[in-house]
This record gives sequence, C-alpha cells and structure tokens, in this order.
Amino acid sequence: MSLVQDRTAATDAPVLDAIAERWSTRVFDAQTPIDEAALASALEAARWAPSANNSQPWRFIVARRGSDAHATLVSALGGFNASWAPDAGVLVAVLVETAREDGTPIRWAEYDAGQAAAFFSLQAHAHGLHTHQMAGFDHPAVADAFGLPASVQPLTIIALGDLGDHAGASDELLAREQAPRVRRPLAESVILDA
Ligand SMILES: Cc1cc2nc3c(=O)[nH]c(=O)nc-3n(C[C@H](O)[C@H](O)[C@H](O)COP(=O)(O)O)c2cc1C
Repeated sequence: MSLVQDRTAATDAPVLDAIAERWSTRVFDAQTPIDEAALASALEAARWAPSANNSQPWRFIVARRGSDAHATLVSALGGFNASWAPDAGVLVAVLVETAREDGTPIRWAEYDAGQAAAFFSLQAHAHGLHTHQMAGFDHPAVADAFGLPASVQPLTIIALGDLGDHAGASDELLAREQAPRVRRPLAESVILDA
C-alpha cells in the first residue's frame, strides 16, 4: 500500500484536474534528471501569465541539480526546507523586478510574479511533475550570490521534479506528507457575493 494516499482536493465545485491534483510534496526523486520538455513548458506557461500593463516583472533563475547555481540556492535554504528541497531536479528562483530603469515603481509586480508562479506550477503538474514553492530562504544571500540589482528581488524558490519514494522518508516528513489537505470555507474568502 502506498504511504501517501491520493492528495486530490475535495472541492465544493468542479475545478480543472491540475488544480485539484496539485499539491506540495516534500519528497522528491533525487536521481531522475528533470524532464526538459516539461520544464520548458512550465516556463512558457509562466511567460504567458497576465500582468499589469503587460509589464512581465517576473524573472527566473533555473538551477538544475548538480549545477553551481543549484548549490548556491541550496546553501540559502532555511530550516526544514534545506532537508528535502535539494533533492528536486530543479530549483527555480522566482524574482521580481520592482522598479523600471528610471526608478519608477512597478506597482503590481509581486502580484504579477505570483501569477506567473501559479501558471508555472499548474503547467508542471499537468506534465506529471511536482512543485513546492518556498519563501523560507535567505533572500539577501540569493540576491548577493547572483549579483541582482536592487530593483530585482528574490521572492520564492520553487522545487520542481519527480515525486520521490516515501519509503525512504523520515517520520517527520511522512507526517507532513500525510497531513490532510485543507482550506477554509469559500464563504470566509468571498466577503460579499451579491
Ligand atoms: C509564497 C509561498 C511560500 C511558501 N513557503 C514555504 C516554505 O518555505 N516551506 C514549505 O515547506 N512550504 C512553503 N510553502 C508551501 C505552502 O505551505 C503550501 O502551498 C500550503 O500549505 C498548501 O499546501 P498545498 O500546496 O499542498 O495545497 C509556500 C507556499 C507559497 C505559495
């Protein structure tokens, strides 16, 4: 019997399969190289996210396992993230350009970068890959290591890869992998529905 049962969301209304089925694993396959075509599609999906004035303020650092860039991102991971995320075939740092060259702030930049990350995650899932977004890392260390200008800031790191074998997972990891997937009721988010 599988150690992790079906994680598909129990939704109150029908949603796209990729939305219901996506979940954030912490057990990645540390051997299989990334599916390059799937990675290209996930990045392409992010490219086609909407953004304010089509400003496209997202930037990405794509770091395959084994590369120097991957080691740099791994060294910035914080706490528990450092114990599982290095196994993922790719770490993708999601960056945001917060101001134009002349210093004008890009007003909705973080909102837009988040949409790009969501598109990336769903497209990756549709290709059978798993994602796990993380804010828990040393943001200044990443900015420093990659020589980012002040107008470009790291937001998250997305672990992307194949699902690993839960038989090798620690009890602590397994407990998190098996925890029920929950959301508060929609009525608590929709504060007016006239
Ligand atoms: C912006 C952002 C930051 C996150 N940071 C972390 C993190 O540092 N470590 C972690 O284990 N999970 C992190 N997560 C994952 C969330 O905890 C997870 O998406 C949430 O609990 C819902 O679970 P699900 O994605 O499996 O539906 C982050 C997710 C987002 C969107």
